[in-house]
This record gives sequence, C-alpha cells and structure tokens, in this order.
Amino acid sequence: MENNKSSTATISQNGNQSNGSSTKDSMKSSQLRELFEDGLKDIYWAEKALTKAIPKMVKKATSKKLIDALSSHLAETEDQITRLEEVFESIDKKPEAKKCEAMAGLIKEAEEIMESSEEGVMRDAGIISAGQKVEHYEIATYGTLRQFAETLGLNEAASLLEKTLKEEKAADQKLSEVAKNAINIEAAQADV
Ligand SMILES: [Fe+2]
Repeated sequence: MENNKSSTATISQNGNQSNGSSTKDSMKSSQLRELFEDGLKDIYWAEKALTKAIPKMVKKATSKKLIDALSSHLAETEDQITRLEEVFESIDKKPEAKKCEAMAGLIKEAEEIMESSEEGVMRDAGIISAGQKVEHYEIATYGTLRQFAETLGLNEAASLLEKTLKEEKAADQKLSEVAKNAINIEAAQADV
C-alpha cells in the first residue's frame, strides 16, 4: 500500500491547489480514496468487535440507566454495521474488515477495568469511562471519514457516515449524563 501522508494531508475540499497539475491531483485523489477505504475497513472491524464487547459491559453493569444506554447503543451499533455495508456498496466495494488495533486496545482496557473493579458503582464508573473512550475514537474516525467522502465527492457515503457520526455523539452524551446523574456521586459517596 502506498503511504504518502504529506500529499494526502494537503488535499482541500475547495480545490485550491494552484500549483498542482491534474495528474498530481488525480494521484492525490486516488491516495485519499485508498486512505478512505482503509478507514472504512478499520471501523467496520471495530463496530463488529463492539457488538461482542458491549453485551459483556451490559452484563457487568449495575445501574439501570447505564444498562439502558449500553443496550440501546448495541442496537444502534448493529444498524451502523449495516450502514457501513451500504457505504461500501455505494463505492462498489465488498464490505471488508481489517483489524483495528486501536479499538482492540480500548476493548482490552475495558475488560481489564471490569475485572479489576468491584461490582457496583465503581465498576459502572469504569465502564462509562471505557465506553466514552470508545465513543471518542468512533467520533474521530467517522468525522474524518465523512470529510474524506465529501472531499472525494462521494455524497451518498458522506451522508451515511454523517448519520452514524451523529449517533456516536449522542451515545457519548448519554454516557456523560449517566455519569453525571447517577454514577459518579454514588461512587464518591461509597468511598467516604
Ligand atoms: Fe459505533
């Protein structure tokens, strides 16, 4: 795989590459397309891994609000996998997953937190913290992929990715609310 970071990074949606020839532009565009497709494979793997990881978090959680937030995000994650398949389809590619080391690490960290914490509010707080790290990774990934799709003129892909981006942001916010309203205060009090 080619990996020319400097040229892909300078691509602008407005096309203001005054000194670039059209050949150079099309090279940049194909490199960006490659980066885009790699990113799709990566997040496709990550979402699939999450459909196995989230049920474990649900099992270990105690707070009803946390269980509800995680369960509804599990259903959403399944829809996001289908949506990613639609993105692949929109660019005439077969859905393909490539191991996402970052997500594998975040899931591993979540498992370690769950194993090492006492059941109840403390473990719930740990699950929220791990869950929010996952959401932030996804927000960063979908934000970038949507931008790449826009730059490449892949409008259908861009709007599908935007939809998922919004869901990830909402899921993150929901976890913040659970943390604020239920978990952290109780966890702090349990410590006193
Ligand atoms: Fe997701």
